[in-house]
Amino acid sequence: MSNLEVRKFDWDFEGIPFIWNPEQPRFSTLMNQITFVIISFERYISKAMRQAESRITNEEVKREARLFGQQEGVHASAHMKHARALIARYPGLQTILDECNESYDAQLENESLEYHLAYAASMEAIFTPFFKMILDHREILFADGDERLSSMLLWHFCEEIEHRSSALIVYDEVVGSYWYRFRNAKPMRKHVRALFDMSIERFKEHVPDVPHEAYEGNPFASVPRPATLRSAFGIFASQMPLHDPTHQPLPAYYDEWIGRWRGGEDVRKFYGQPAMHAAKPQEA
Ligand SMILES: [Fe+2]
Ligand SMILES: [Fe+2]
Repeated sequence: MSNLEVRKFDWDFEGIPFIWNPEQPRFSTLMNQITFVIISFERYISKAMRQAESRITNEEVKREARLFGQQEGVHASAHMKHARALIARYPGLQTILDECNESYDAQLENESLEYHLAYAASMEAIFTPFFKMILDHREILFADGDERLSSMLLWHFCEEIEHRSSALIVYDEVVGSYWYRFRNAKPMRKHVRALFDMSIERFKEHVPDVPHEAYEGNPFASVPRPATLRSAFGIFASQMPLHDPTHQPLPAYYDEWIGRWRGGEDVRKFYGQPAMHAAKPQEA
């Protein structure tokens, strides 16, 4: 079992620019997409974990499900603060939250608990190789960014590393079939991709006052190619039978983050540049 801690911090993103890292406009947009999509994703996972508890007899697994669901709930609240700050400047962005909520609510309603748990296990397995690549290259991706969002994302991604096995532990306890998960993995990935595609289209519509680079090209163009290839291979491997996130290569930054948090440092200012404030709002 993992040793999960539910950590709550008082995040504040008031006035944060849409491009919160001027050196990385496309990466900034990708992280904004994550903010808007992940709120309903993580709430869905939290609800699925609550539903799963009554089907779990092993007390340790039950505890894992509870803490995992709570961590995701806290992440969703932090991203909601970021989304609210952007919606205050660009009110049309509310439509992204609404569409994501509708989509996950429908999935919660129409699919089985087995499906929800398979969805959580498949997606969460992808996160370890993906977020490891981001955390390993934090200097490139976050050093010039607003410290509030850079620090929030680093906290979130470290906790994703921390609970990397939780969804699979719960899935194996309640469902257990690899083939059920494998059969459904493609539509699950398609679902997430559609929400990401929708979110960037809405950004283009409602946030016109940013350089076109914010919407074009590879968000990881500045990350060395071998690292992005390793991440892509890790994502592919994460969907294979016998894959266990517990034994994945981990980013060294996780231990550094935990050490600084235990040392009582202000987690909200771990990384990046002093808070940035955007000019007056413009809506399309
Ligand atoms: Fe999360
Ligand atoms: Fe997660």
